[in-house]
Amino acid sequence: MGRRGDSGTAIVATGLVKHYGDVHALDGLDLEVQEGTVMALLGPNGAGKTTTIRVLTTLLKADTGTATVAGLDVVTDAAELRSRIGVSGQYSAVDEYLTGFENLDMVGRLYHLGAKRSRARARELLERFDLVDAGDRPVKGYSGGMRRRLDLAGALVADPPVLFLDEPTTGLDPRARIDLWAVIDELVAAGTTLLLTTQYLEEADRLADRIAVIDHGVVIERGTADDLKSRVGGSRIDLTLATAEDLSTAVEILGRPAGEVTADESSRRLTLPASDGAITLSDALLALRERGIVPTDASLAKPSLDDVFLTLTGRATADDTDATDATASASTGSAR
Ligand SMILES: Nc1ncnc2c1ncn2[C@@H]1O[C@H](COP(=O)(O)OP(=O)(O)O)[C@@H](O)[C@H]1O
Ligand SMILES: [Mg+2]
Repeated sequence: MGRRGDSGTAIVATGLVKHYGDVHALDGLDLEVQEGTVMALLGPNGAGKTTTIRVLTTLLKADTGTATVAGLDVVTDAAELRSRIGVSGQYSAVDEYLTGFENLDMVGRLYHLGAKRSRARARELLERFDLVDAGDRPVKGYSGGMRRRLDLAGALVADPPVLFLDEPTTGLDPRARIDLWAVIDELVAAGTTLLLTTQYLEEADRLADRIAVIDHGVVIERGTADDLKSRVGGSRIDLTLATAEDLSTAVEILGRPAGEVTADESSRRLTLPASDGAITLSDALLALRERGIVPTDASLAKPSLDDVFLTLTGRATADDTDATDATASASTGSAR
């Protein structure tokens, strides 16, 4: 994704600390987001993502440290700041018993848009988020994806220049996730500064210009998605061959153009980088097929948050997370 308009800094956080007794939710967090860019805060459950969003959106006061959003201090300018931002997240403010339209209209009133503008804005957003048909039904009957879209629409009612999305796609099925990504793309193309949190490396890669990896309330790594992937390694293909002979032939065939093939003779498994993802996988399968070789198992494994943490910290994310990225499998496909 290109960087749009780098005129200034939209979000600056310096040394944010927030302790709950012994729990160090934030432990000296520093963050900077340029105007018109997308920053992803990537981290496992409990890393401090929501706490960061809450501090930056004035919902929570840090113990120490300072932060400004759109040039306004999160403590001393809190009221004015709130009118310049949109927030959408896990703690969704959507009212179940109101319709989609009524929810958006209500947000417009809260932002003092006035009755006429609030209604017009609600209709406009329902259209934009593909909720026109559902707009006059109570939210109670909405699917997970529809709720997220409505929640996101709510964050946009006042057309804020800075937007915060806390785990926008967690819990959504792959289809709904892709739809939501497309909506987020549009926002970003329009110049909105976006800070989003996620547990998915794939999502950070897809949406963000820059990524800050957060662990125990501090940023442990920052850079572009490419920086991070070059440290962690990109997608790879895992193949299992039927015989030792097939394995050595496969190494010979795939080793030439792709390079970096590793083979394990005892398990008859072969691994190679998938620079073009599924295309590399299908090319590899075709090349083998031409020589009469069909693997007993073939899968495409994308690097996950766990891979990032192993690389950066030497340990896996905590066991209670559900932070595994989707692993796309082909044919017999084992989930690695
Ligand atoms: N109100 C609270 N009281 C006590 N502990 C909290 C509170 N809010 C968050 N925490 C703790 O702070 C840490 C960071 O939480 P959070 O910011 O929600 O992480 P994330 O959003 O990355 O999952 C976690 O250990 C969490 O249990
Ligand atoms: Mg959270």
